Amino acid sequence: MIITDARILENGVLVKKDILIIGGKIKKIAQGIDSDEKIINAEGLIAIPGIIDSHVHFRDFEQKYKEDFFTGSCAAAAGGITSVLDMPNNKPPVLSVDDLNKKRELAKKSVVNYGFYFGTDGNNIPEIKKAKNIAAVKVYMERTTGNLAVENVENVFKNCKRIAVHAEGKNVSKAIELAKKYNNYLYLCHISTKEEIEIIKREKSNKIFAEATPHHLFLKSNNTPFCLMKPELKSAADVKALWDGIDLGIIDTIGSDHAPHAVEEKKSGGCYGIPGVETLLPLLLNAINEKRLTLKKVIQLCCENPVRIFGIKNKGFLKEGYDADIVLVDINRIKEVKNSGLFTKCKWSPFDGMKLRGWPVMTIVNGNVVFDNGKINDIKGKKVVFSR
Ligand code: DOR
Ligand code: ZN
Ligand code: ZN
Repeated sequence: MIITDARILENGVLVKKDILIIGGKIKKIAQGIDSDEKIINAEGLIAIPGIIDSHVHFRDFEQKYKEDFFTGSCAAAAGGITSVLDMPNNKPPVLSVDDLNKKRELAKKSVVNYGFYFGTDGNNIPEIKKAKNIAAVKVYMERTTGNLAVENVENVFKNCKRIAVHAEGKNVSKAIELAKKYNNYLYLCHISTKEEIEIIKREKSNKIFAEATPHHLFLKSNNTPFCLMKPELKSAADVKALWDGIDLGIIDTIGSDHAPHAVEEKKSGGCYGIPGVETLLPLLLNAINEKRLTLKKVIQLCCENPVRIFGIKNKGFLKEGYDADIVLVDINRIKEVKNSGLFTKCKWSPFDGMKLRGWPVMTIVNGNVVFDNGKINDIKGKKVVFSR
């Protein structure tokens, strides 16, 4: 197919181009391409690389009542996300190659591309060493959903090269110290405080990366159990430090930490996590309209940096030869986030009622139109390939 008259960002400016897609890849990007392929007229829309969400919990297994790979991925596609990296704190957790293979089977329901983190209890090093094509090993240094908090953290750093951590406060320093000692690549999930930003600012290197979430950037606590999450929502000063951290390049990525729970579970309290794949990009596009971000920055945070950090093959850029993972965005479209219109199985969002300007209207995954103006086409995604 051919996308005509899309505006794409080139050297910081939007230029009108056609994008020819053949065999799921971007074949050519140019002005006025002549082709007999099926035409998608993108007049008035901006084309950006598909969003890569480096942090989702698509549940499934024994928690498929919360979310499964089909519903989670439909929600992702509706939010302009074309690839997700899924966390291992499932029920049961992903601690062995066998567990991971079971998840790979479940993920075949996904309409977006998928990659996985491997879990650890501190003692499953032989299994981790056998695992192939994973984003990183996820180490929980705090207690949260799934009860995977690891006692013997050092053993994991010593034996695994690529690590993602759920660390808060002092544990951020501890994770960085260990990563320096054992020369790890370290991905610090959901950084949420000024103190953490300051630590990372001092320690930043080409092996230490930090993620922020939309909820820590855009949400204020309403003191209901629906706002319960880990890390919890923080003060205005912390939020400001996160925004500064984005501007200064201390924050490398925005991950949704899409962590769905059923409404009844949330109501009864003590249940950490909120859904987020459907609202990540609209919130960022709205922030572009409010001049808090640039489109260039959003593409760096959500497309280019995940590729660089995790070594993802053939994605993150609108370039000839790359996978045709593309989002068409209407930067001026105003729409309210509504629980009733969501694709996530949990059917609620902490952003319900928020009017946002800037929405994805079409999501193309491997050259297939998977989300088209409110409708999902059930065409399956593929595994994400890590090139190392
Ligand atoms: O709020 C959270 N929810 N924080 C986590 O660390 C885990 C996540 C989940 O899986 O529910
Ligand atoms: Zn976490
Ligand atoms: Zn998480």
